[in-house]
Amino acid sequence: MKTIDKSQEKNGIPLRPGLEGVPVTHSSICDIDGVKGKLQYRGYPISELASNSSFLETTYLLIWGELPTSKELREFEEEVQQHRRVSFRVRDMLKCFPASGHPMDALQSSAAALGLFYSRRGIDDPKYIYDAAVRLIAKIPTMVAAFQLIRKGQDPIQPRDDLPYSSNFLYMLTEREPDPLAAKVFDRCLILHAEHSLNASTFSARVTASTLTDPYSVVASAVGTLAGPLHGGANEDVIAMLEEIGTPSKAGQYLDEAIKQKRKIMGFGHREYRVKDPRASILQDFGEKLFARFGKDEMYEVAKELEKEAIDRLGPKGIYPNVDFYSGLIYRKLGIPRDLFTPVFAISRVAGWLAHWREQLGANRIFRPSQIYTGMKTRTWKPLDQRKSKKED
Ligand code: COA
Repeated sequence: MKTIDKSQEKNGIPLRPGLEGVPVTHSSICDIDGVKGKLQYRGYPISELASNSSFLETTYLLIWGELPTSKELREFEEEVQQHRRVSFRVRDMLKCFPASGHPMDALQSSAAALGLFYSRRGIDDPKYIYDAAVRLIAKIPTMVAAFQLIRKGQDPIQPRDDLPYSSNFLYMLTEREPDPLAAKVFDRCLILHAEHSLNASTFSARVTASTLTDPYSVVASAVGTLAGPLHGGANEDVIAMLEEIGTPSKAGQYLDEAIKQKRKIMGFGHREYRVKDPRASILQDFGEKLFARFGKDEMYEVAKELEKEAIDRLGPKGIYPNVDFYSGLIYRKLGIPRDLFTPVFAISRVAGWLAHWREQLGANRIFRPSQIYTGMKTRTWKPLDQRKSKKED
């Protein structure tokens, strides 16, 4: 007879740490085939979107389910452009933050603060949803760029109305109008990072959305979740790792030592993919175009060698480069500081979070999973003078 381990199930439902493989919602936003290495947004292959679309067009597709007509796209782009500026109060708030703080913390706080300026009520109204989505898409890049200049002791610069979305962000960040190739590659990077089904930050967004709170809280929750090194923060660590390896000839030795010490190789592995992440291949292509135009990055040679050496060592376990492996190298070629890599990820992923927010509202049920309690059985409260410190044992 089969014995049931009570510590591993509740009411017949097995414990699944990390909810691995457990479906918790229907979704029509994004489809991943982790065995074939395929990714689609609303049915469109990621490679087609990365070749032909723009970030704002892809954002529209993700949130409203269909590619916009030229009129819809023009209106959406205009609305986003009109809402790029942030209140001087938001800028003043960013000035109060310590310059040494991580920009993801500044972004999380400022995304939540937007809820103080705009109505939190109206999630039943399609116009409220549209306006909130436009504001978040428009203002998040402005807040990221503003904090970057503020922490360098400068005043933030205003968005430029004549520049498209991605060019304007790079302009606000670097104070220079970007080269068209750089702006194009950056825009395509935003497309690649815009959505990826129920990753940790999107799940966090959906859990928050399920309480019927406002979209600013939804995005602030998701930003906090994206910040961790096992999620969006990995691309920062990839650069640190490549620099530690130093030269291509040391890649194999680094891998052997890391595997022996059971350390994870940053930018490798994915819960969904058993093959190379399709986004990593597209990013690698973009990277090569940038390096051909603006000069080589020695760390790219280290990265390529690491990928090659990892095939035999990690491939049999289904561990290959993920989206974070090459993105950091591209961002640094574009002049983006390392600790802004994850905020840049957030600029893009807000599109996916908002799509999931809207979808969650369409068929809402508050998230409330269960647990298996492993703590003490009932105990009796003791007065202070009868307690014995555990430290004295
Ligand atoms: N390097 C080396 N080994 C790895 C690895 C990596 N990057 N990722 C997973 N593994 C190994 C684990 O050590 C484990 O081996 P074991 O079964 O012998 O103990 C096995 O693969 C399963 O790992 P696990 O951590 O359970 O997989 P997961 O599905 O929970 O993890 C990630 C997915 C993304 C969290 C994980 O691959 C990781 O931490 N990668 C590095 C961080 C990163 O790049 N994150 C960005 C994701 S887009």
